Amino acid sequence: MSDSLPAGVERRTFDGRERLATEGETVYGEPTDAGWRAWDAGRSKLGAMLELGVETGLAGGETVLYLGAASGTTVSHVADFAGPTYAVEFAPRPARDLVGVAEDRTNLFPLLKDARKPETYAHVVESNVDCIVQDVATRGQATVALRNEQFLAEDGYLLAAVKARSEDVLADPDDVFEAVTEELKEGYEILETARLDRFHDDHLGVVARPK
Ligand SMILES: C[S@@+](CC[C@H](N)C(=O)[O-])C[C@H]1O[C@@H](n2cnc3c(N)ncnc32)[C@H](O)[C@@H]1O
Repeated sequence: MSDSLPAGVERRTFDGRERLATEGETVYGEPTDAGWRAWDAGRSKLGAMLELGVETGLAGGETVLYLGAASGTTVSHVADFAGPTYAVEFAPRPARDLVGVAEDRTNLFPLLKDARKPETYAHVVESNVDCIVQDVATRGQATVALRNEQFLAEDGYLLAAVKARSEDVLADPDDVFEAVTEELKEGYEILETARLDRFHDDHLGVVARPK
């Protein structure tokens, strides 16, 4: 386990408890302190990966493609420490909130698109992004990562949260994780995996880079 946090992410004390935090406008009623907003690992798989000391390769200032942005809880923190951040979400309702989150962040670009169809946003997202963060909670999570690999720089990172139940509600999560990582290996080298259960039941965090 390491404790390397990207620049722009700090451990700060809120109500006597040390938590991750980024600097920016509040989004979801999170506690703040002098402009820093607590980043709730229980509501964010990427937050959980950082909290658990997963080596994400993030240094701060990266160009990020975020798949499955929902209403912007996690991607708002990402945009606080990253550079240009493209946020893909296909459900109109959360995407409306995401647009509101982007109004306070000039580097956050919401895209109402289906992450299984990268050709529909390839003209908008710059090539050679430093990092893909994926949290789509849908069947075919490995396929989504493989289809979007085209955007990733050769030395870029995929940071994916794999939800076992989205692939198969009945299967043993370990079997699902095995199958998903095997499929990911068609295009990626897996650098690290970590169960996120302390914060998110039956989720696996995956760090990978293009092969
Ligand atoms: C677990 S939620 C994401 C939570 C968010 N990442 C966060 O931490 O704030 C999963 C999201 O992925 C979206 N999603 C699922 N399949 C998708 C697809 N094919 N394209 C785009 N978004 C998708 C869902 O609509 C949902 O909002």
